Amino acid sequence: MASILCIGAGHVGGPTMAVIAENCPQHRVVAVDINPARIAAWQSDHLPIYEPGLDELVRRSRGRNLFFSTDIERHIDEADIIFVSVNTPTKTFGRGAGKAADLQYWEQTARQILEHSTSPKIVVEKSTLPVRTAQAMERILNFNDKGLKFDIVSNPEFLAEGSAIRDMQNPDRVLIGGRETPSGQQAVQAIVDIYAQWVPRERIITTNLWSSELSKLVANAFLAQRVSSINAISALCERTGADITEVAHAVGTDSRIGPRFLRASVGFGGSCFRKDILNLVYLCEHYGLQEVAAYWEQVVKMNEHQQARFVSTMVNAMFNTVAGKRVALFGAAFKANTSDTRESPALAVCRTLLEERANLVLTDPYALENARADLGHNAERVVFESDPYAAARGAHAIAILTEWPLFAELDYEAIHRAMVKPAFIFDGRNILDHRALHELGFNVYAIGKSPLTNFPS
Ligand code: NAD
Ligand code: UGA
Repeated sequence: MASILCIGAGHVGGPTMAVIAENCPQHRVVAVDINPARIAAWQSDHLPIYEPGLDELVRRSRGRNLFFSTDIERHIDEADIIFVSVNTPTKTFGRGAGKAADLQYWEQTARQILEHSTSPKIVVEKSTLPVRTAQAMERILNFNDKGLKFDIVSNPEFLAEGSAIRDMQNPDRVLIGGRETPSGQQAVQAIVDIYAQWVPRERIITTNLWSSELSKLVANAFLAQRVSSINAISALCERTGADITEVAHAVGTDSRIGPRFLRASVGFGGSCFRKDILNLVYLCEHYGLQEVAAYWEQVVKMNEHQQARFVSTMVNAMFNTVAGKRVALFGAAFKANTSDTRESPALAVCRTLLEERANLVLTDPYALENARADLGHNAERVVFESDPYAAARGAHAIAILTEWPLFAELDYEAIHRAMVKPAFIFDGRNILDHRALHELGFNVYAIGKSPLTNFPS
């Protein structure tokens, strides 16, 4: 039996440990956090994050071989293997502000591990980190006067929110990087042995430390690049009469390109794409690779452009002003099946429409609480409404900002009746039946498609 600890019980730490506990009943798994409210929630019936399948998973292992605690010191000392899954946000101050990763939580954790350890341990980088962070970790941990030896392993996480449990139960691959020394390879093997309990061995990739660290940033950059690429083409479709859904299908059926991550949208969000690409950009600049940095930075710029373009379309269509008009925003989460609103394009649209002095009503099945917190002082100027029908009542326009399936299933005839005319729909996720809405009397604007309006030309 091994004693496995995870420092940081957030969106990654909590679900990852639940999956390991489920698949490795012989190991004792503990997740700790500095946030007592978060730990209390993990111990309760109301988990701190919404993720399909998570409740049942936690219920099966909690109290058996899965534990949540705030007693970080004691659990560090007891652990054989420590996963570190603390947040690594973009730095907001000093050198690299706005691009580089803020590694203060990460370094604090390393020092804490050292302080409270009385035996050697394997420390696993689960957080997404700049390439060569493991070297700094080794230097902090191994230059100690306790005579203790720590092995650092990189094991980045590839789960996507909303499908986290499925992604971890059945991953495309698990990536494990380590030093090419005998003890480094032993440490890699210890982590391979954990995953091999449920992941086929051929899907477990082992590499050197730096390849593993860098591959995580590159995977996110490639995924986000596809979204920015299709969004860039959506702008051209709107000008030319081409339809982005047809173009994406025609392009994505080339087996060399593939169909996934070609859904045009109001833009990508989430806590990681933007932060990880900017981190990659900063690393390239640090190594003097200005052209490489500029290439990747364009993925983020295109995303900002797409969000701004969406609001411009709204304002232009609504006779160049939304001031004082009620606008219903359908969706706050950065994607469906999550309550997470971090970097959500919905909130970016919300802020810009507030600058235009629109009267906003925001509806979402799971994310209203997080949206209120993320909007800060702007929240006072937004009405939060759990019922989409009530949100749309008396509105001039609806904007679909998250692809929740329920938004496609509403009775739009009834919604249209209750709206101010002419009624507008802006589908930022292309999930609605645009022709049917048009026939109901809506003026419909979708991403990458010609508008369907009921105005005489
Ligand atoms: P999160 O903010 O949800 O969770 C991080 C947790 O770490 C928080 O609960 C925080 O209180 C805790 N923490 C911070 N410092 C601590 C300390 N010194 N001791 C104990 N706990 C501490 O973040 P997240 O979304 O879980 O992301 C964590 C890392 O995983 C990031 O590097 C992120 O880039 C990466 N990642 C995230 C996702 C995702 O879908 N969210 C996917 C893959 C990788
Ligand atoms: C992403 C990656 O998919 C994960 O592999 C990675 O582990 C994770 O980031 C991370 O490092 O945090 P996530 O952000 O949870 O996962 O969700 P995605 O499904 O990747 O969606 C990201 C954003 O892109 C969402 O706003 C989504 O709506 C948008 N998107 C995605 C599109 O607009 N179009 C698409 O075709 C796909």
